[in-house]
Amino acid sequence: MKNPIFVALDTVDLDQALALGSAVAPHVGGLKLGLEFCHACGPQGIAAVAELGLPLFLDIKLHDIPNTVAGGIRAVLPLAPMIVNIHTFGGRAMMEAAAKEAQKAGKDRPWIIGVTVLTSLDDSDLSDVGVTKSSQDQAVALAQLAKDSGLDGVVCSPMDIEAIRKECGPEFKLIVPGIRPAGAPLGDQKRVLTPSEAYQLGADVMVIGRPITQADDPAEAARAIAQSLSD
Ligand code: C5P
Repeated sequence: MKNPIFVALDTVDLDQALALGSAVAPHVGGLKLGLEFCHACGPQGIAAVAELGLPLFLDIKLHDIPNTVAGGIRAVLPLAPMIVNIHTFGGRAMMEAAAKEAQKAGKDRPWIIGVTVLTSLDDSDLSDVGVTKSSQDQAVALAQLAKDSGLDGVVCSPMDIEAIRKECGPEFKLIVPGIRPAGAPLGDQKRVLTPSEAYQLGADVMVIGRPITQADDPAEAARAIAQSLSD
């Protein structure tokens, strides 16, 4: 089994990211760098984390006109990430432009993954911005559009794994945050599943932050979660 755990290094501090990344490296499949880290530490910081030797997920959530998003993808290709994400709400032409740009990196191209409905939005938040579907129906509809537009998969809530898998098939990659080992503090995550539940439902990648990064011993926390997947 390839290790599906990607640890979210949510920090603005390069030394802290490197220390955490090297501590958990033996127990995880990759590292996720998001807006905080990428804006604070830039391409040099990303390249320094890449030196740890683990696949990287650049969680940069691009959302703009097609030409600009294609330019954003082009700019990160030299960093050789395994995964880059964009917002599906940018529409079909934007997603097609991103997928086409990624193809230029050849066989080592990154997966281009779509963000559907942010897990911080509930049905009433969606209604405020004019979306009348339920959050799950909206997530499934956007996942189908992402697939039609040439994306490799989507980020989704663990609660939406089954519905999206059913519509989009076994090859479509599901990248799943909102993971909490039994008894771990939820923080701001609302609808969570345990690592083994999400894995059994078919998550391809599980993005896990605070249960590992805020643990007294992050390496042990990562090891225990990895172990729980094979129990
Ligand atoms: O600490 P925690 O495990 O909640 O971290 C989850 C990570 O996944 C964070 O980096 C967060 O930005 C990211 N994420 C998320 N929900 C999404 C997309 C990304 O929690 N829908």
